[in-house]
Amino acid sequence: MRNVTSDTITEAFLKTFGSETNPRLAFIMERFAHHLHAFARETNLTHEEWMRGIQFLEATGAISDDKRHEFVLLSDIFGLSALVDMLHSPEDGTSSSVLGPFHQENAPPLAVGGDLKKDNPGDVVLVEGIVKSVDGTPLGGAKIDIWQTATNGLYAAQDEAMAPFEFHATMVTGEDGRYAFTTVRPAPYTVPTDGPVGELLEATGRHPWRPSHLHFIVAANGHRRLVTEVFPRDDAYLDEDAVFGVRDDLIMEYVPQPPGTFPAGLELSGKVDGPWWKVSFDLVLCALKTAAPEKTLENCNAD
Ligand code: BEZ
Ligand code: FE
Repeated sequence: MRNVTSDTITEAFLKTFGSETNPRLAFIMERFAHHLHAFARETNLTHEEWMRGIQFLEATGAISDDKRHEFVLLSDIFGLSALVDMLHSPEDGTSSSVLGPFHQENAPPLAVGGDLKKDNPGDVVLVEGIVKSVDGTPLGGAKIDIWQTATNGLYAAQDEAMAPFEFHATMVTGEDGRYAFTTVRPAPYTVPTDGPVGELLEATGRHPWRPSHLHFIVAANGHRRLVTEVFPRDDAYLDEDAVFGVRDDLIMEYVPQPPGTFPAGLELSGKVDGPWWKVSFDLVLCALKTAAPEKTLENCNAD
């Protein structure tokens, strides 16, 4: 351990671990140190740059609390959140996508066909589809968390004029696996830019915009929980999402519908006279499989 050099420091770090260290933790720490040390060598990191990085992380911590998750945002804009999602996304079924910071636990229940729009401005949009298994079986009793922005691009948590759970709901599918709700079309919005992550985006010439989207978390017995979001085909930011969440199979369409055609059987039936829009999107879950063994130093051919 004495006289470590820039070549031996990574190995020396590994030797500091106690013999009882959890194998997975030892693996993650060793690989992290390997890449961190390689990064410092490769960039010939200066003391000033190292200190700037420390100050950035301190500022990220200082602005964070139980509502403001600046480290999650940092992970999002680096594409790390999307990468972790993709590493564990099922090979079949609907792709997963980033959770984001605006999901609220315990949102009020909404019956299938219920309305989220209420008195909010905007055209009526009917969103509907089937929650099903990869083999096509409809999944009755599936629980869906739904959340989105209003037409002003703000979530309830960001806008004091909105009720705490405005545009947040939970829905349980019937026997036929169907979900349906009426709402408004959410707007594209920027990730929070008033903190260190915003400064970093600015300093690197990146814009903070996300395409508009509807968020879903879907849970059904015997199936993998799906965290995802769906994006309209005509959104200007589809190919430049600041947090890298867009996948081809998550793209949907707002299809215009003529006045006088709003269907029966929904909370707003008989109350929509003008034009309205329809989004059809099935949410496909894959069945639970036995998990692959965790990678550790022993079973991994790490470079
Ligand atoms: C969102 O989808 O709400 C979101 C995701 C990542 C960062 C900020 C917001
Ligand atoms: Fe969002």
